[in-house]
Amino acid sequence: MTDPKPQSPDHLAEQVAAAEAAAADAVAGASSPAELGRVQAETVGKRSAFARLNTTLGSLDPDARRTAGAVINAARARVVEQIEARRVVLAAAERHARIEAERLDLTEAVALAAGGESSQPVLRGHLNLVTQTRDELEDTFVALGFAVAEGPEAETDWYNFEALNMPPAHPARGMWDTLYLKLGAPETVLLRTHTSPVQVRLMERQRPPIYAVMPGRCYRRDTPDARHLPVFHQIEGLVVDRGITFADLAGTIEAFTTSFFGPDIHSRLRPSYFPFTEPSGEFEVTCPICGGDGCRTCSGSGWIELGGCGMVDPNVFAAVGIDPDVYSGFAFGFGIDRLAQVRTGLADMRALLDNDIRFLTQF
Ligand code: PHE
Repeated sequence: MTDPKPQSPDHLAEQVAAAEAAAADAVAGASSPAELGRVQAETVGKRSAFARLNTTLGSLDPDARRTAGAVINAARARVVEQIEARRVVLAAAERHARIEAERLDLTEAVALAAGGESSQPVLRGHLNLVTQTRDELEDTFVALGFAVAEGPEAETDWYNFEALNMPPAHPARGMWDTLYLKLGAPETVLLRTHTSPVQVRLMERQRPPIYAVMPGRCYRRDTPDARHLPVFHQIEGLVVDRGITFADLAGTIEAFTTSFFGPDIHSRLRPSYFPFTEPSGEFEVTCPICGGDGCRTCSGSGWIELGGCGMVDPNVFAAVGIDPDVYSGFAFGFGIDRLAQVRTGLADMRALLDNDIRFLTQF
């Protein structure tokens, strides 16, 4: 390849064949994608044998030049193809080697724990206290004959407010510090502030009788403190049937309280206001920390406020097309995190989210 002037087309063909063979060897010998990159520059790049041969074509007559050029180009194209194929193989091999090198062998830790030399106990993870509480609540209500339903966390204004008897700009909306999402028209989609929108969804898709609880995550524009989390959990209860009265509501809350907390804990209702229930109440349970004697957790009253409740407002029935002359119902809702807090005597709710293993392993 040192002679730039081929004597004849035959001589040129020989040189092309030699260049192609040398290039094929170099490509096959490349052992990494990086090395293949260098080989590519050397074999088909601007300073390659093919490029140099191209510069010798000027000495040939036009016909011979065309034929010779085609021979060089075809050979170069075959080398390019080999390079691409080799690149796929090398990239796969490199990726495989990386995965192998980064593999974590956990069997050793388990083997040690199972009685290996140092025999350290394995720390097994478990469900967070909030999830455990939610599961227990579901079990309690299922035992009382309730079904479990769920709904979306990103809600429309209609489900979170309007169908719950809060038209646009209704002052009661101020009871919930709302996080709106930048979706559609302003203030039409939000992170649900309570689980009550699931009531509406359930009544829309299921005719009475309805006996259901609806647990889930809720969001409010709150600054986290010892008793508030901006992301928290509620469980909602809904009963719709013929002849449901306030006595059924009070009885259900009491039955739930004793079955969840035990026979020494009772419930009581106080009048309150919610736009979607009429009449509305707040329900309290005997302070589970002091058993009703009065302590710091219950501010000495012996009672802990748990949640809201009431008889489903006829306007809510109207929004979902249930006839309030035929059916009546009640609803209730309370915070799962708050319940876990009062039941365990937890001073600061933020511990539920801190992922401090010393806290989490206590439950
Ligand atoms: N959704 C209410 C809240 O978040 C609680 C509630 C539920 C009240 C059902 C009455 C009936 O505060």
